[in-house]
Amino acid sequence: METKFTKLLNIEHPILMAPMFLVSNKEMLKAAIDSGILGAIPTLNYRDLEQLRSDILELKQYSEGKKGTFALNLIVVGNPFFHAHLQIIEETKAPVVITSLGNPDGVISKVHSYGGIVLSDIVNLKFAEKAATAGADGFVVVGCGAGGHAGNNNLFTLIPSLRRLYPNMLIVAAGGLAYGESMVAALALGADGVSIGTPFITCRESKVSAEYKQAVLNARIDDIVFTRILSGKPSAVINTEKFQELEKSLQNNDMNFVSGMKILSKADYGNVYMAGQSVEAITTETTIGEWITEYIKRAESVQLK
Ligand SMILES: Cc1cc2nc3c(=O)[nH]c(=O)nc-3n(C[C@H](O)[C@H](O)[C@H](O)COP(=O)(O)O)c2cc1C
Repeated sequence: METKFTKLLNIEHPILMAPMFLVSNKEMLKAAIDSGILGAIPTLNYRDLEQLRSDILELKQYSEGKKGTFALNLIVVGNPFFHAHLQIIEETKAPVVITSLGNPDGVISKVHSYGGIVLSDIVNLKFAEKAATAGADGFVVVGCGAGGHAGNNNLFTLIPSLRRLYPNMLIVAAGGLAYGESMVAALALGADGVSIGTPFITCRESKVSAEYKQAVLNARIDDIVFTRILSGKPSAVINTEKFQELEKSLQNNDMNFVSGMKILSKADYGNVYMAGQSVEAITTETTIGEWITEYIKRAESVQLK
């Protein structure tokens, strides 16, 4: 399926495997590259700067001659490693950078100077304007239903509105797009591609705990709730009994986003399982390659009645 997204990145399918804090890993990125998509990892998944540097170089080599590539996700606000990670991105010339939570201004000129591409996470028109003014190559539009820090807006209105306002901008839609049919709908709305996170939590290449994978497999769409206890900003999590107990015990904890990020930078999720509404579509553990093949098959078999 060829779109502006596949052409700009020279990939086979218009799909981004979304960056996921404490979930994305190098093996997942290699599987994404082999599957002909764009795989992303948050730089915050690295505690060791040298490891980040050597993994970027390894992935650059791995993706040579393949119809898939990779991106680094750089959190702009409240990220204690922002400058160190940006420097490594510049030095290694990472092909694609996805900025989130903050103005991408300072990132774009640096990545463009070596020919890299910058996509910016946005959740509303105000952020879209900031990213477009700063010169981003595209938006990753995060709508309601997404895992992580989901947006409040629905993609059915947001995507066509952004397309009208920014006719030439690359638009990647994110949030609950777990069925092949969802991708067809997103493209019909005016997006150039889709970003998918939650379904990859349970893939075989993911190294999260067996309990986390089982919680995602068991969860239904109605089990997704929002909490501020992870980062201070609302994050989508599975409403398990353990989560309810933890939330009750932390009720008086006045966490703000920056302190949340500091804690997160050296923590794991413990018994709190982050996931979006796409849990509804996940029933078995598969490899990333198998999942992409099935997704594309479903997308290609869509017939409008
Ligand atoms: C466990 C988890 C961790 C996430 N961590 C990040 C992150 O570090 N940076 C980021 O920009 N988005 C993060 N997200 C959001 C995803 O990149 C993406 O926008 C979202 O998963 C797409 O929606 P979906 O989960 O419904 O497919 C995270 C999502 C999940 C589920």
